[in-house]
Amino acid sequence: MCWNSLSVVVYSVVFCALLDFGPSRVLADEPSYEGNTTVRDGDPFKITCRVSMFQVIKWQKDGHTLVTGEHYNISEAVTNDNMFVSTIMANSASSMHSGAYRCTTQYNKFHVLYVVTAQATIKANYDYGDNHKIGEYKSKLTLICNIDGTQDPEYIWKWFKGDNQITTDSEDPHHVDVSGNTLVVNRFVENDAGQYTCSLFSSKNSPIDKKVFNVVLKPYMKLPKTATFIEGEKMELECIVYGVPTPEVSWKFENTTLVPSEHIKFLPNKKNITNAILVLDPITMKDRGNFICSGKNSVVYEPVHSGASYVRIKDKMAALWPFLGICAEVIVLCLVIFIYEKKRNKAEFEESDTDQGPETNNANDHSGGDVRHRK
Ligand SMILES: *[C@@H]1O[C@H](CO)[C@@H](O)[C@H](O)[C@H]1NC(C)=O
Ligand SMILES: *[C@@H]1O[C@H](CO)[C@@H](O)[C@H](O)[C@H]1NC(C)=O
Ligand SMILES: *[C@@H]1O[C@H](CO)[C@@H](O)[C@H](O)[C@H]1NC(C)=O
Ligand SMILES: *[C@@H]1O[C@H](CO)[C@@H](O)[C@H](O)[C@H]1NC(C)=O
Repeated sequence: MCWNSLSVVVYSVVFCALLDFGPSRVLADEPSYEGNTTVRDGDPFKITCRVSMFQVIKWQKDGHTLVTGEHYNISEAVTNDNMFVSTIMANSASSMHSGAYRCTTQYNKFHVLYVVTAQATIKANYDYGDNHKIGEYKSKLTLICNIDGTQDPEYIWKWFKGDNQITTDSEDPHHVDVSGNTLVVNRFVENDAGQYTCSLFSSKNSPIDKKVFNVVLKPYMKLPKTATFIEGEKMELECIVYGVPTPEVSWKFENTTLVPSEHIKFLPNKKNITNAILVLDPITMKDRGNFICSGKNSVVYEPVHSGASYVRIKDKMAALWPFLGICAEVIVLCLVIFIYEKKRNKAEFEESDTDQGPETNNANDHSGGDVRHRK
Protein backbone atom coordinates (compact mmCIF):
# COMPACT_ATOMS: atom_id res chain seq x y z
CA MET A 1 0.00 0.00 0.00
CA CYS A 2 2.72 2.33 1.12
CA TRP A 3 4.93 1.23 -1.76
CA ASN A 4 2.06 1.89 -4.10
CA SER A 5 1.62 5.43 -2.75
CA LEU A 6 5.30 6.01 -3.15
CA SER A 7 5.31 4.89 -6.75
CA VAL A 8 2.32 7.19 -7.49
CA VAL A 9 4.25 10.10 -6.03
CA VAL A 10 7.36 9.19 -8.02
CA TYR A 11 5.41 8.87 -11.24
CA SER A 12 3.64 12.16 -10.50
CA VAL A 13 6.92 13.94 -9.94
CA VAL A 14 8.35 12.50 -13.14
CA PHE A 15 5.21 13.42 -15.03
CA CYS A 16 5.22 16.93 -13.61
CA ALA A 17 8.86 17.29 -14.43
CA LEU A 18 8.17 16.24 -17.97
CA LEU A 19 5.25 18.70 -18.20
CA ASP A 20 7.29 21.53 -16.75
CA PHE A 21 10.65 21.03 -18.28
CA GLY A 22 10.02 19.02 -21.41
CA PRO A 23 8.21 21.72 -23.42
CA SER A 24 10.19 24.58 -21.97
CA ARG A 25 13.36 22.98 -23.29
CA VAL A 26 11.89 22.85 -26.83
CA LEU A 27 10.38 26.33 -26.40
CA ALA A 28 13.66 27.72 -27.61
CA ASP A 29 12.97 26.03 -30.91
CA GLU A 30 9.55 27.50 -31.57
CA PRO A 31 8.97 27.93 -35.29
CA SER A 32 9.97 31.07 -37.12
CA TYR A 33 8.17 32.18 -40.26
CA GLU A 34 9.20 34.19 -43.26
CA GLY A 35 7.26 35.13 -46.33
CA ASN A 36 4.52 37.16 -47.87
CA THR A 37 1.90 38.66 -45.64
CA THR A 38 -0.15 40.55 -48.20
CA VAL A 39 -0.49 39.44 -51.79
CA ARG A 40 -2.86 40.43 -54.52
CA ASP A 41 -5.34 38.05 -55.97
CA GLY A 42 -3.57 36.10 -58.70
CA ASP A 43 -0.04 36.73 -57.47
CA PRO A 44 2.21 33.94 -56.14
CA PHE A 45 3.03 33.65 -52.47
CA LYS A 46 5.40 31.68 -50.34
CA ILE A 47 5.63 31.07 -46.56
CA THR A 48 8.72 29.44 -45.10
CA CYS A 49 8.86 27.95 -41.64
CA ARG A 50 11.91 26.89 -39.65
CA VAL A 51 11.56 24.43 -36.77
CA SER A 52 13.88 22.18 -34.82
CA MET A 53 14.23 18.63 -36.02
CA PHE A 54 12.47 17.31 -32.93
CA GLN A 55 9.18 18.50 -34.30
CA VAL A 56 6.78 17.18 -36.86
CA ILE A 57 5.99 19.43 -39.79
CA LYS A 58 2.27 19.67 -40.24
CA TRP A 59 0.91 22.68 -42.09
CA GLN A 60 -2.45 24.05 -41.04
CA LYS A 61 -4.46 27.03 -42.03
CA ASP A 62 -7.10 28.14 -39.54
CA GLY A 63 -6.93 24.70 -37.95
CA HIS A 64 -7.32 22.71 -41.18
CA THR A 65 -4.48 20.49 -42.28
CA LEU A 66 -2.94 21.31 -45.66
CA VAL A 67 -1.25 18.95 -48.09
CA THR A 68 0.38 19.35 -51.47
CA GLY A 69 -2.29 19.34 -54.11
CA GLU A 70 -4.59 21.55 -56.07
CA HIS A 71 -4.13 24.59 -53.81
CA TYR A 72 -0.64 24.30 -52.36
CA ASN A 73 2.84 23.02 -53.00
CA ILE A 74 4.68 22.02 -49.81
CA SER A 75 8.38 21.26 -49.66
CA GLU A 76 10.64 20.24 -46.82
CA ALA A 77 14.35 20.33 -46.32
CA VAL A 78 16.89 19.77 -43.53
CA THR A 79 19.51 22.43 -42.98
CA ASN A 80 23.11 22.08 -41.85
CA ASP A 81 22.20 23.33 -38.39
CA ASN A 82 19.72 20.46 -37.92
CA MET A 83 16.60 22.45 -38.56
CA PHE A 84 13.61 21.64 -40.70
CA VAL A 85 12.76 24.21 -43.32
CA SER A 86 9.38 23.82 -44.93
CA THR A 87 7.86 26.04 -47.56
CA ILE A 88 4.24 26.25 -48.51
CA MET A 89 3.43 28.11 -51.70
CA ALA A 90 1.00 28.66 -54.53
CA ASN A 91 1.45 30.21 -57.96
CA SER A 92 -1.78 32.12 -57.91
CA ALA A 93 -3.29 33.37 -54.70
CA SER A 94 -7.01 33.55 -54.27
CA SER A 95 -9.21 34.56 -51.37
CA MET A 96 -9.28 30.97 -50.09
CA HIS A 97 -5.58 31.29 -49.31
CA SER A 98 -6.18 34.04 -46.77
CA GLY A 99 -5.75 32.92 -43.20
CA ALA A 100 -3.47 32.04 -40.28
CA TYR A 101 -0.80 29.46 -41.18
CA ARG A 102 1.28 27.35 -38.89
CA CYS A 103 3.66 24.53 -39.72
CA THR A 104 3.52 22.59 -36.48
CA THR A 105 0.67 21.90 -34.11
CA GLN A 106 2.97 21.93 -31.10
CA TYR A 107 3.09 25.72 -31.05
CA ASN A 108 0.43 28.23 -31.46
CA LYS A 109 2.59 30.62 -33.46
CA PHE A 110 1.05 31.74 -36.75
CA HIS A 111 1.93 33.52 -39.91
CA VAL A 112 -1.03 35.41 -41.28
CA LEU A 113 -1.49 35.86 -45.00
CA TYR A 114 -3.93 38.30 -46.54
CA VAL A 115 -4.97 37.88 -50.14
CA VAL A 116 -6.49 41.11 -51.32
CA THR A 117 -8.79 41.27 -54.28
CA ALA A 118 -7.89 44.04 -56.70
CA GLN A 119 -10.13 46.90 -55.73
CA ALA A 120 -11.10 47.76 -59.27
CA THR A 121 -14.60 47.94 -60.64
CA ILE A 122 -15.65 48.80 -64.13
CA LYS A 123 -17.84 51.70 -65.15
CA ALA A 124 -19.47 51.18 -68.51
CA ASN A 125 -20.83 53.96 -70.74
CA TYR A 126 -24.42 52.78 -70.72
CA ASP A 127 -27.03 54.95 -72.39
CA TYR A 128 -29.57 54.17 -69.75
CA GLY A 129 -30.65 51.59 -67.27
CA ASP A 130 -28.03 49.33 -65.78
CA ASN A 131 -26.98 47.69 -69.01
CA HIS A 132 -28.52 49.27 -72.10
CA LYS A 133 -26.61 50.71 -74.98
CA ILE A 134 -28.45 51.99 -78.04
CA GLY A 135 -27.00 51.79 -81.52
CA GLU A 136 -28.35 53.81 -84.41
CA TYR A 137 -28.73 52.33 -87.85
CA LYS A 138 -25.53 52.59 -89.91
CA SER A 139 -23.94 54.86 -87.32
CA LYS A 140 -20.94 54.41 -85.11
CA LEU A 141 -21.42 52.78 -81.73
CA THR A 142 -18.76 53.01 -79.04
CA LEU A 143 -18.66 50.84 -75.92
CA ILE A 144 -16.26 52.00 -73.22
CA CYS A 145 -15.35 50.35 -69.93
CA ASN A 146 -13.41 52.47 -67.48
CA ILE A 147 -11.63 51.29 -64.37
CA ASP A 148 -12.92 52.86 -61.22
CA GLY A 149 -10.26 52.17 -58.57
CA THR A 150 -6.81 50.61 -58.63
CA GLN A 151 -5.22 51.10 -62.02
CA ASP A 152 -2.56 48.76 -63.27
CA PRO A 153 -0.92 48.95 -66.69
CA GLU A 154 -0.68 45.17 -66.67
CA TYR A 155 -4.42 44.69 -66.60
CA ILE A 156 -5.81 42.94 -69.63
CA TRP A 157 -9.12 43.75 -71.31
CA LYS A 158 -11.14 41.18 -73.15
CA TRP A 159 -14.33 41.76 -75.10
CA PHE A 160 -17.04 39.22 -75.77
CA LYS A 161 -20.16 39.11 -77.88
CA GLY A 162 -22.31 36.42 -76.35
CA ASP A 163 -19.75 33.79 -75.36
CA ASN A 164 -17.27 34.51 -78.12
CA GLN A 165 -14.28 36.71 -77.61
CA ILE A 166 -14.11 39.45 -80.23
CA THR A 167 -11.19 41.34 -81.60
CA THR A 168 -10.73 43.83 -84.41
CA ASP A 169 -11.84 42.16 -87.64
CA SER A 170 -9.88 41.89 -90.85
CA GLU A 171 -12.38 43.78 -93.01
CA ASP A 172 -11.26 46.98 -94.67
CA PRO A 173 -12.42 49.28 -93.27
CA HIS A 174 -12.95 47.45 -89.99
CA HIS A 175 -16.49 46.75 -89.01
CA VAL A 176 -15.45 46.28 -85.38
CA ASP A 177 -12.45 47.90 -83.74
CA VAL A 178 -11.38 46.52 -80.37
CA SER A 179 -8.68 48.32 -78.47
CA GLY A 180 -8.16 47.98 -74.72
CA ASN A 181 -11.21 49.22 -72.89
CA THR A 182 -12.97 50.42 -76.07
CA LEU A 183 -15.00 48.65 -78.70
CA VAL A 184 -16.28 50.47 -81.77
CA VAL A 185 -18.82 49.18 -84.26
CA ASN A 186 -18.39 51.44 -87.24
CA ARG A 187 -21.65 50.97 -89.14
CA PHE A 188 -24.14 49.48 -86.77
CA VAL A 189 -26.71 47.13 -88.31
CA GLU A 190 -29.24 44.67 -86.99
CA ASN A 191 -26.73 41.80 -86.70
CA ASP A 192 -24.61 43.86 -84.36
CA ALA A 193 -27.27 44.02 -81.68
CA GLY A 194 -26.78 41.61 -78.80
CA GLN A 195 -25.00 41.08 -75.54
CA TYR A 196 -21.48 42.45 -75.25
CA THR A 197 -19.18 42.02 -72.25
CA CYS A 198 -16.00 43.76 -71.27
CA SER A 199 -13.86 41.75 -68.85
CA LEU A 200 -10.89 42.95 -66.88
CA PHE A 201 -8.17 40.48 -65.96
CA SER A 202 -5.07 40.82 -63.83
CA SER A 203 -1.70 40.15 -65.41
CA LYS A 204 -2.01 36.62 -63.98
CA ASN A 205 -5.27 36.19 -65.89
CA SER A 206 -7.53 36.17 -62.87
CA PRO A 207 -10.79 38.00 -63.44
CA ILE A 208 -11.23 41.31 -61.66
CA ASP A 209 -14.53 42.64 -62.92
CA LYS A 210 -16.79 42.60 -65.95
CA LYS A 211 -19.72 44.54 -67.31
CA VAL A 212 -22.42 43.43 -69.68
CA PHE A 213 -23.96 45.66 -72.35
CA ASN A 214 -27.34 44.89 -73.81
CA VAL A 215 -26.93 46.54 -77.16
CA VAL A 216 -30.11 47.30 -79.07
CA LEU A 217 -30.74 48.90 -82.44
CA LYS A 218 -32.88 51.99 -82.14
CA PRO A 219 -35.88 51.82 -84.47
CA TYR A 220 -35.12 53.22 -87.90
CA MET A 221 -38.19 54.16 -89.93
CA LYS A 222 -38.21 55.40 -93.48
CA LEU A 223 -40.81 56.31 -96.09
CA PRO A 224 -40.42 57.65 -99.62
CA LYS A 225 -40.64 61.48 -99.63
CA THR A 226 -43.52 61.48 -102.06
CA ALA A 227 -45.75 58.93 -103.68
CA THR A 228 -48.48 59.22 -106.27
CA PHE A 229 -51.54 57.06 -106.60
CA ILE A 230 -54.63 57.11 -108.77
CA GLU A 231 -57.97 57.76 -107.22
CA GLY A 232 -60.07 54.64 -106.77
CA GLU A 233 -57.14 52.27 -106.89
CA LYS A 234 -55.36 50.51 -104.03
CA MET A 235 -52.54 52.30 -102.24
CA GLU A 236 -49.74 50.31 -100.61
CA LEU A 237 -47.18 52.29 -98.68
CA GLU A 238 -44.28 50.37 -97.09
CA CYS A 239 -42.37 51.67 -94.14
CA ILE A 240 -38.76 50.54 -94.19
CA VAL A 241 -38.12 49.29 -90.67
CA TYR A 242 -34.95 48.27 -88.84
CA GLY A 243 -34.67 47.71 -85.13
CA VAL A 244 -33.78 45.20 -82.45
CA PRO A 245 -35.96 44.28 -80.64
CA THR A 246 -38.38 44.43 -83.57
CA PRO A 247 -40.30 47.72 -83.40
CA GLU A 248 -44.04 48.04 -83.13
CA VAL A 249 -45.10 50.06 -86.14
CA SER A 250 -47.89 52.63 -86.14
CA TRP A 251 -49.09 55.08 -88.78
CA LYS A 252 -50.38 58.62 -88.84
CA PHE A 253 -52.14 60.59 -91.52
CA GLU A 254 -51.62 64.28 -90.85
CA ASN A 255 -52.42 64.35 -87.11
CA THR A 256 -54.57 61.26 -86.92
CA THR A 257 -53.38 57.86 -85.85
CA LEU A 258 -54.64 55.31 -88.32
CA VAL A 259 -56.57 52.29 -87.13
CA PRO A 260 -57.78 49.39 -89.24
CA SER A 261 -61.15 49.92 -90.88
CA GLU A 262 -62.95 48.93 -94.04
CA HIS A 263 -60.81 51.43 -95.89
CA ILE A 264 -57.51 51.02 -93.96
CA LYS A 265 -55.55 47.82 -93.55
CA PHE A 266 -52.08 46.89 -92.30
CA LEU A 267 -49.90 44.09 -93.59
CA PRO A 268 -46.61 42.60 -92.40
CA ASN A 269 -43.60 43.13 -94.64
CA LYS A 270 -41.19 40.48 -95.97
CA LYS A 271 -39.38 40.39 -92.64
CA ASN A 272 -42.77 39.71 -91.01
CA ILE A 273 -42.81 43.03 -89.19
CA THR A 274 -46.43 43.62 -88.30
CA ASN A 275 -48.08 46.77 -89.71
CA ALA A 276 -45.07 47.68 -91.86
CA ILE A 277 -47.30 48.07 -94.92
CA LEU A 278 -50.24 50.46 -94.99
CA VAL A 279 -53.03 49.65 -97.44
CA LEU A 280 -55.78 52.10 -98.35
CA ASP A 281 -58.37 50.56 -100.62
CA PRO A 282 -59.85 52.31 -102.49
CA ILE A 283 -57.90 55.54 -102.23
CA THR A 284 -59.89 58.75 -102.39
CA MET A 285 -59.08 62.41 -102.81
CA LYS A 286 -59.39 62.76 -99.03
CA ASP A 287 -56.30 60.60 -98.58
CA ARG A 288 -54.08 63.23 -100.14
CA GLY A 289 -51.58 64.44 -97.55
CA ASN A 290 -48.72 63.47 -95.26
CA PHE A 291 -48.27 59.96 -93.93
CA ILE A 292 -45.82 59.08 -91.16
CA CYS A 293 -44.81 55.71 -89.76
CA SER A 294 -43.44 55.42 -86.24
CA GLY A 295 -41.71 52.68 -84.30
CA LYS A 296 -40.95 51.92 -80.69
CA ASN A 297 -39.81 48.81 -78.88
CA SER A 298 -39.45 47.42 -75.39
CA VAL A 299 -36.21 49.37 -74.88
CA VAL A 300 -36.87 52.57 -76.82
CA TYR A 301 -40.31 53.60 -75.59
CA GLU A 302 -40.29 57.02 -77.17
CA PRO A 303 -41.55 56.48 -80.74
CA VAL A 304 -39.14 57.19 -83.56
CA HIS A 305 -40.83 58.81 -86.57
CA SER A 306 -40.09 58.46 -90.24
CA GLY A 307 -40.00 61.58 -92.35
CA ALA A 308 -43.38 62.49 -93.81
CA SER A 309 -44.36 60.95 -97.10
CA TYR A 310 -46.53 63.25 -99.18
CA VAL A 311 -49.10 61.25 -101.06
CA ARG A 312 -50.51 62.79 -104.22
CA ILE A 313 -53.70 61.45 -105.64
CA LYS A 314 -54.36 61.67 -109.34
CA ASP A 315 -57.84 61.97 -110.70
CA LYS A 316 -59.12 58.82 -112.32
CA MET A 317 -59.72 60.89 -115.44
CA ALA A 318 -56.24 62.31 -115.33
CA ALA A 319 -55.10 60.38 -118.36
CA LEU A 320 -58.18 61.48 -120.21
CA TRP A 321 -57.65 65.18 -119.65
CA PRO A 322 -55.05 65.78 -122.36
CA PHE A 323 -57.23 63.98 -124.87
CA LEU A 324 -60.28 65.90 -123.75
CA GLY A 325 -58.19 69.05 -123.93
CA ILE A 326 -57.28 68.34 -127.54
CA CYS A 327 -60.91 67.58 -128.33
CA ALA A 328 -61.92 70.83 -126.69
CA GLU A 329 -59.28 72.65 -128.69
CA VAL A 330 -60.51 71.09 -131.91
CA ILE A 331 -64.08 71.96 -131.07
CA VAL A 332 -63.17 75.51 -130.22
CA LEU A 333 -61.15 75.76 -133.41
CA CYS A 334 -64.02 74.36 -135.46
CA LEU A 335 -66.37 76.79 -133.82
CA VAL A 336 -64.05 79.68 -134.50
CA ILE A 337 -63.67 78.64 -138.09
CA PHE A 338 -67.36 78.02 -138.42
CA ILE A 339 -68.28 81.38 -136.97
CA TYR A 340 -65.62 83.10 -138.98
CA GLU A 341 -66.81 81.39 -142.14
CA LYS A 342 -70.34 82.27 -141.38
CA LYS A 343 -69.43 85.89 -140.77
CA ARG A 344 -67.35 85.99 -143.92
CA ASN A 345 -70.16 84.47 -145.95
CA LYS A 346 -72.50 87.03 -144.59
CA ALA A 347 -70.01 89.80 -145.28
CA GLU A 348 -69.48 88.52 -148.81
CA PHE A 349 -73.18 88.33 -149.29
CA GLU A 350 -73.58 91.87 -148.12
CA GLU A 351 -70.62 92.94 -150.24
CA SER A 352 -72.09 91.29 -153.31
CA ASP A 353 -75.28 93.03 -152.41
CA THR A 354 -73.64 96.39 -152.64
CA ASP A 355 -71.59 95.37 -155.69
CA GLN A 356 -74.72 94.47 -157.44
CA GLY A 357 -76.12 97.73 -156.19
CA PRO A 358 -75.57 99.77 -159.32
CA GLU A 359 -77.00 97.05 -161.51
CA THR A 360 -80.05 96.60 -159.40
CA ASN A 361 -80.25 100.19 -158.32
CA ASN A 362 -82.89 100.98 -160.74
CA ALA A 363 -84.86 97.93 -160.01
CA ASN A 364 -84.58 98.61 -156.34
CA ASP A 365 -84.92 102.30 -156.47
CA HIS A 366 -88.48 102.35 -155.40
CA SER A 367 -88.31 99.70 -152.89
CA GLY A 368 -84.80 100.94 -151.89
CA GLY A 369 -86.35 104.19 -151.17
CA ASP A 370 -88.97 102.35 -149.21
CA VAL A 371 -86.33 100.43 -147.28
CA ARG A 372 -84.47 103.55 -146.46
CA HIS A 373 -87.58 105.12 -145.37
CA ARG A 374 -88.40 102.12 -143.25
CA LYS A 375 -84.96 102.35 -141.76
C1 LIG B 1 6.43 37.64 -51.71
O1 LIG B 1 7.62 37.67 -51.04
C2 LIG B 1 8.78 37.60 -51.88
C3 LIG B 1 9.98 37.48 -51.00
O2 LIG B 1 9.75 38.08 -49.80
C4 LIG B 1 8.84 38.82 -52.74
O3 LIG B 1 9.93 38.78 -53.63
C5 LIG B 1 7.57 38.87 -53.54
O4 LIG B 1 7.54 40.03 -54.33
C6 LIG B 1 6.36 38.82 -52.65
N1 LIG B 1 5.20 38.71 -53.47
C7 LIG B 1 4.20 39.54 -53.41
C8 LIG B 1 3.08 39.33 -54.34
O5 LIG B 1 4.18 40.46 -52.60
C1 LIG C 1 2.85 23.27 -57.72
O1 LIG C 1 4.02 23.18 -58.52
C2 LIG C 1 3.79 22.77 -59.85
C3 LIG C 1 5.13 22.60 -60.50
O2 LIG C 1 5.92 23.73 -60.36
C4 LIG C 1 2.91 23.78 -60.54
O3 LIG C 1 2.62 23.37 -61.85
C5 LIG C 1 1.62 23.93 -59.77
O4 LIG C 1 0.84 24.95 -60.37
C6 LIG C 1 1.93 24.27 -58.33
N1 LIG C 1 0.67 24.32 -57.59
C7 LIG C 1 0.19 25.42 -57.01
C8 LIG C 1 -1.08 25.27 -56.26
O5 LIG C 1 0.76 26.49 -57.06
C1 LIG D 1 -51.58 68.90 -85.67
O1 LIG D 1 -52.19 69.34 -84.48
C2 LIG D 1 -51.61 70.47 -83.93
C3 LIG D 1 -52.33 70.79 -82.62
O2 LIG D 1 -53.15 69.77 -82.23
C4 LIG D 1 -51.72 71.63 -84.90
O3 LIG D 1 -51.10 72.77 -84.38
C5 LIG D 1 -51.06 71.24 -86.20
O4 LIG D 1 -51.23 72.26 -87.16
C6 LIG D 1 -51.63 69.98 -86.73
N1 LIG D 1 -50.89 69.56 -87.90
C7 LIG D 1 -51.48 69.13 -89.00
C8 LIG D 1 -50.58 68.78 -90.10
O5 LIG D 1 -52.70 69.03 -89.11
C1 LIG E 1 -45.20 36.30 -88.58
O1 LIG E 1 -45.54 36.81 -87.31
C2 LIG E 1 -46.70 36.28 -86.73
C3 LIG E 1 -46.96 36.95 -85.40
O2 LIG E 1 -46.55 38.26 -85.41
C4 LIG E 1 -46.57 34.78 -86.56
O3 LIG E 1 -47.75 34.25 -86.06
C5 LIG E 1 -46.21 34.15 -87.90
O4 LIG E 1 -45.96 32.80 -87.70
C6 LIG E 1 -44.99 34.82 -88.49
N1 LIG E 1 -44.79 34.29 -89.83
C7 LIG E 1 -43.58 33.98 -90.27
C8 LIG E 1 -43.50 33.49 -91.67
O5 LIG E 1 -42.59 34.07 -89.59
